[in-house]
Amino acid sequence: MLMPSPASRISALKPSPIRILSEGAPPDAIPLGLGEPTWALPEPARRALADTSGICAYGPNMGLPELRRAVAAWHGVQADEVIITSGSSGALFSLFQAYLEPGDQVLIPDPAFPVYEALALMCGAEARPFALNAADRFRLDATAFEAVLEASPRARLALVNAPSNPTGGGARLEDLARIARACEARGVLLISDEVYRDLHFGVRPPTLRDVTSNGIVVTSVSKGWGAPGLRVGWAVGDPKVLAQLRIVHGYAVTAAAQPAQKAALALIEASGTVLPAAREEIRIRFEALREALAAELGQRIEAPDGTFYHFMALPEAALADPWGFCVRLRDEAKVVLVPGQVFGPGGRAHARLSFAASPEQIREGVRRLAPHWTVPHGSPA
Ligand SMILES: Cc1ncc(COP(=O)(O)O)c(C=O)c1O
Repeated sequence: MLMPSPASRISALKPSPIRILSEGAPPDAIPLGLGEPTWALPEPARRALADTSGICAYGPNMGLPELRRAVAAWHGVQADEVIITSGSSGALFSLFQAYLEPGDQVLIPDPAFPVYEALALMCGAEARPFALNAADRFRLDATAFEAVLEASPRARLALVNAPSNPTGGGARLEDLARIARACEARGVLLISDEVYRDLHFGVRPPTLRDVTSNGIVVTSVSKGWGAPGLRVGWAVGDPKVLAQLRIVHGYAVTAAAQPAQKAALALIEASGTVLPAAREEIRIRFEALREALAAELGQRIEAPDGTFYHFMALPEAALADPWGFCVRLRDEAKVVLVPGQVFGPGGRAHARLSFAASPEQIREGVRRLAPHWTVPHGSPA
């Protein structure tokens, strides 16, 4: 049969390399690849999901009013400044679709969550990477941002993500403020992806809302509230921008699933216990990682500004082919790490280790990695 060919704007895309690595792993491999909580879904969400009384309607495009009110209170804004989406992914996809013309430019961090570039390509737009500051624990760097913005005459959107996937690096308030000012001066819509903001190690990272009421904040219950499978997120910002987002998201998926929105509401109402418990889960896991790296590799590490990611410098011998190195780690050492190059050229000398796994898995994973970090030349045995 003659196969229809895919749209040209899709043909450059492949499934996420993070998924490819994880799905191809041997069954006994230690999973330090995927970025999702591995602790139990908090009780309030389980209770809400178990309640099957009532009807299961589509619900409003903008999300359940009671959830919008709870999210608005959480962010200190009005309910009309909130739209509920299918994860923060639903908000990001819809904003890109709503605001980008083919040929437009989008500023994204390097390294960054690979979805940003894919979303730009799906709009026929060009991703313009700006470097995170590798010398300052991969924090956001306003000077690098301003230089790339200056050199991007067709910029329409810009994205910041702090704390960052894959580095865990945060943002200083003054850098966020400079980036917001630069975008406002150019009429560029700034999106701040804050999905990891509540997974920190003592100091809550800043939000875009600390420096401006412009721009859009996106986040979800997937990380701090421990519920990625609910697929509930939201965007916060000017209702006029949200009206455009709603058009795309409404036509794409109608609304986030109702039972999931109710469970998300229960989680947000229980934030006072759910979020500190999640931070305790990542603190325990980070301690396991810190001790294992010190014992097995003699490496000393500090906690990231947030997230459950350790951006680990690769051994010299892996630099010629980081992807091949990580594939061999997966298949031979039986531990999954994601090569930093899949997050952009700025990640090439590192691998992302997700310490969302259990402390036992982290300890065993580092034991398995250790021989490959000390091999002076060539590939892992
Ligand atoms: C930086 C970042 N943004 C957004 C997402 C998407 O999360 P969700 O759609 O579950 O909210 C992820 C998931 O890994 C992420 O790491």
